[in-house]
Amino acid sequence: MKNTLELKVDSQRPEKEKINVAAEIIKKGGLVAFPTETVYGLGADALNSKAILALFKAKKRPMDNPPIIHVGSVRAVDKLVKKMPPEAEVLMRHFWPGPLTLIFERSDIVPTVTVAGLETVAIRMPNHKVALALLRKSGCPIAAPSANLAGKPSPTTAQHVLDDLDGRIDAILDAGPTKIGVESTVLDITAKPPQILRPGGTPYEKLKKIVGRVKLHPAAVAEKEVSIEKARSPGLKHKHYAPKAEMVIVEGAESNVIGRAKELIESYRQRGYNVGVLATDETVSYYEADVVKSLGSRSNLEIVARNLFKLLREFDLENVNIIIAEGIPAKGLGLAIMNRLRKASGYKIVKANNR
Ligand code: TXA
Ligand code: MG
Repeated sequence: MKNTLELKVDSQRPEKEKINVAAEIIKKGGLVAFPTETVYGLGADALNSKAILALFKAKKRPMDNPPIIHVGSVRAVDKLVKKMPPEAEVLMRHFWPGPLTLIFERSDIVPTVTVAGLETVAIRMPNHKVALALLRKSGCPIAAPSANLAGKPSPTTAQHVLDDLDGRIDAILDAGPTKIGVESTVLDITAKPPQILRPGGTPYEKLKKIVGRVKLHPAAVAEKEVSIEKARSPGLKHKHYAPKAEMVIVEGAESNVIGRAKELIESYRQRGYNVGVLATDETVSYYEADVVKSLGSRSNLEIVARNLFKLLREFDLENVNIIIAEGIPAKGLGLAIMNRLRKASGYKIVKANNR
């Protein structure tokens, strides 16, 4: 067990001394959790193989699932990639700093462990003052997967990080809850046309406006698990975001969803289950169950995204055996939200049709 150093830091004006302490740890090969605009990341020097091995170990992350490399400037990308495709420059100009990760062909300076043996590398510039200050002070690219134990929902607060990793990492920079709440969109620009491997904080519709054609990888929209061979992004094939209780997603038009969810709640309760419901503000009053939580209004998906992982983690503290979750339309941020919910359920999806 390590003694994890907790550094509370101002999200708008990060205190220099605290950033210096965290940067020194990164430079020496240590592990520091830090906030980004999406979720908290667990950072290590991306060019230090030993540090990266420790990173995988701390998270209990499978070695075949590479982390995203974070940079503090567009220029810092050059030495990490083989070539700079013209569409990358356009995308970086429009969306960085921000929740968009780009897949490039990698250069030789990126250690094999950092990319899990792949010839490509995932890079993004986060839009958070603390993350950017840490990157600048450390002077190296920082590999940072989400700062959760593998398989758990990504952390949107420092407390979530500590719940999973206290004693396993050197330090955490705590700047309060993250703004977006779901991870970055992963866009493979080595594919023609560019392909979204993971929907996230930058919506598909916005990317399309800038680059014209964008494909969605089948796994990104999957309602069922895609086969491992088809999962081009290694993370797609691993268990993810799962709460302890079993989870079922009810998808369809709002009015049908309420009816079908109520039937399911009733039938599980009759079988003696403690039932939890993950609803929305518009529907929450329709349900009677052991625990009912609302993600927020269907008309404000930014709030729904921000609450999603927090509520999934909160259900772990409740005495429920099953969670019935409402689906929402997979548009805009809704695509990322539904991707995480479907994964969290292990693709246990019930279609609520007109009957
Ligand atoms: O918002 C985010 O992206 C957060 C914050 C901390 O920046 N990070 C994050 O990292 O979610 P992580 O490691 O939990 O997810 C990285 C995803 C995984 O699905 C991984 O398989 C994929 O990116 N990935 C990494 N390198 C890749 C590569 N070379 N080709 C395809 N997919 C890759
Ligand atoms: Mg993750």
